[in-house]
Amino acid sequence: MCGIVGYVGPQQAAPVLVEGLTRLEYRGYDSAGIAVLNPRSSAHPSRVVRAKGRVRDLEAALPARLAGTVGIGHTRWATHGEPSERNAHPHTSFDGRVHVVHNGIIDNFHALRSRLAADGVELTSDTDTEVVAHLVARELAAGLGFEDAVRAAVTSIDGTYALAVADVQNPDRVVVARNGSPLLLGVGDGEMFVASDAAAIVRHTSQVVLLDDGDFASVTADGFRTFTADEEHTARSAVTIDLTVEELELGGHAHFMHKEIHEQPESVERMLSGRLDDRFGTAKLDGLNLDPRELRRFSRVKILGCGSAYYVGQLGASMIEDLARVPADAEPASEFRYRNPIIEPSTLYVVVSQSGETADTLFAVREVQRKGGTVVGLVNAVGSSIAREVDGGIYLHAGPEVAVASTKALTHMSVGFALLALALGRVRDLSFADGKRIIAGLRAIPEQIAQVLAGEEDLASAAKELAEAPSLFFIGRVRGYPVAREGAQKFKEITYRHAEAYPTSELKHGPLALISPELPTVAIMPADDLLERNITAAQEIRARGGAVVAITHPGVELGDAATRRIEVPRNEVELDPILLTIPTQLLGYHAAVALGEDVDRPRNLAKSVTVE
Ligand code: F6R
Repeated sequence: MCGIVGYVGPQQAAPVLVEGLTRLEYRGYDSAGIAVLNPRSSAHPSRVVRAKGRVRDLEAALPARLAGTVGIGHTRWATHGEPSERNAHPHTSFDGRVHVVHNGIIDNFHALRSRLAADGVELTSDTDTEVVAHLVARELAAGLGFEDAVRAAVTSIDGTYALAVADVQNPDRVVVARNGSPLLLGVGDGEMFVASDAAAIVRHTSQVVLLDDGDFASVTADGFRTFTADEEHTARSAVTIDLTVEELELGGHAHFMHKEIHEQPESVERMLSGRLDDRFGTAKLDGLNLDPRELRRFSRVKILGCGSAYYVGQLGASMIEDLARVPADAEPASEFRYRNPIIEPSTLYVVVSQSGETADTLFAVREVQRKGGTVVGLVNAVGSSIAREVDGGIYLHAGPEVAVASTKALTHMSVGFALLALALGRVRDLSFADGKRIIAGLRAIPEQIAQVLAGEEDLASAAKELAEAPSLFFIGRVRGYPVAREGAQKFKEITYRHAEAYPTSELKHGPLALISPELPTVAIMPADDLLERNITAAQEIRARGGAVVAITHPGVELGDAATRRIEVPRNEVELDPILLTIPTQLLGYHAAVALGEDVDRPRNLAKSVTVE
């Protein structure tokens, strides 16, 4: 949440900052702002422009001339203080000397604000961030150099931060600090960049320095110096990132969500390449850093993730139980980390995250490691905090996901779990023949996703009807239940319609009371051994006047149990949920389009939840 950028170099900073913020807008879009230093102007050695709303609103507010080649910028997802210009970053110190942008949460900001106010500092926003600007300015006023002033200021701060600080009297540099929120430096030719993630700077450079917690950096046009609280120079080198500008463009699609849904056949194929081992009927997952003997040692698997990643984790747990016959379950990482969990050495902990920066999931990793557990990650963002801290893992290779509502990354997670389940199964009792059966199923998935996507028109028309209902149910049983949960999540987050998931088996224990012609149900009804029961439940809904949109397999006889059917091709029963989820993506997407909602930027949400 919140994106920060910085620039030091020969170019005019404002356009570079604004472009970077546009690419980071998925991290928050309540307000945006930039500060630009211009030592040549004695009247305006720095200028700050801020606007409530989107980066485009900031762009509209920029003056025609905003000269200066050093600056910082921010796009905000509000935590403390309403979305408004007054609360937008950058925040400025009482003496006008220091500007600060921040991603994270300063836990002790109340105490710091009170102390500053008692000293006569006038606070001009409701944010936690503002105190940092004042603290740095005080250290500067006391005579410290810029870098030392930032270092001294953060010693008073409890919480998480990625900070970029500009000082009017040091107009050739930006000083940054990281603790718990992502931050990197981009190394250009005679210019340097600062960003929350590489998307912001990919047009300028592919060389990045990933900062660690506890790192500071002083960034000038010709380079950078990293340091910590105790060391004046630390060694941090640049790595090359594999990201192109084209991957961050719409490429002819109306929305990123639509683009990402349609990328799945190709991206899943890419993910599988080199990972299927026909000779031994297993998956090649070298990144796990666990040899077969170590893999066999685990007698339980615990999966941790947040939101949709947690729902995919539930699917993963059932794949692991099905294929490896190892007890497995999933839990929201956000709950796990707060409940003093018992960490067992014989349990394999698996965290799952698209961004690799979700704070609750990252803290779950640390909790497991602190107590001596082994934790591996299914992560999409290469070089992200979670990817760097886990003991091993499987990169999802979904490519960048820009839409706030996740689609392709979730599909990649479920494919990742299938690979993990296969590898765990093949060091236990899963036969070679069954291993080959799953491999064949996985190979079929890209083409089968393409077949589901070919039915988009029909899905769009079903979505239009569903969009008219103020409220709806998504139901599924056993393997179908996580599919229903994810379907409801996608629908509600972008349509703002109430969509609730229930296990089909639980309907008659309460929710059936809500069924009426006004409340349609999307029912996950694969051709498995639970089909008869699912048909009975659908008939109970129909008998009470409720419409049923069935997501089912070809050849399934539903009779009058469904008012509409959507078919997906059959795969292996353990892998079917991967395909059953695809129509729910398009249902959510087209319902939101029909309602005229901002599909890629749903209200109140941000893609990367880097605050707790
Ligand atoms: C829903 C969605 C969220 C994320 C969750 C975890 O569409 O995107 O529920 O799944 O915030 O995010 P990551 O996977 O980045 O850890």
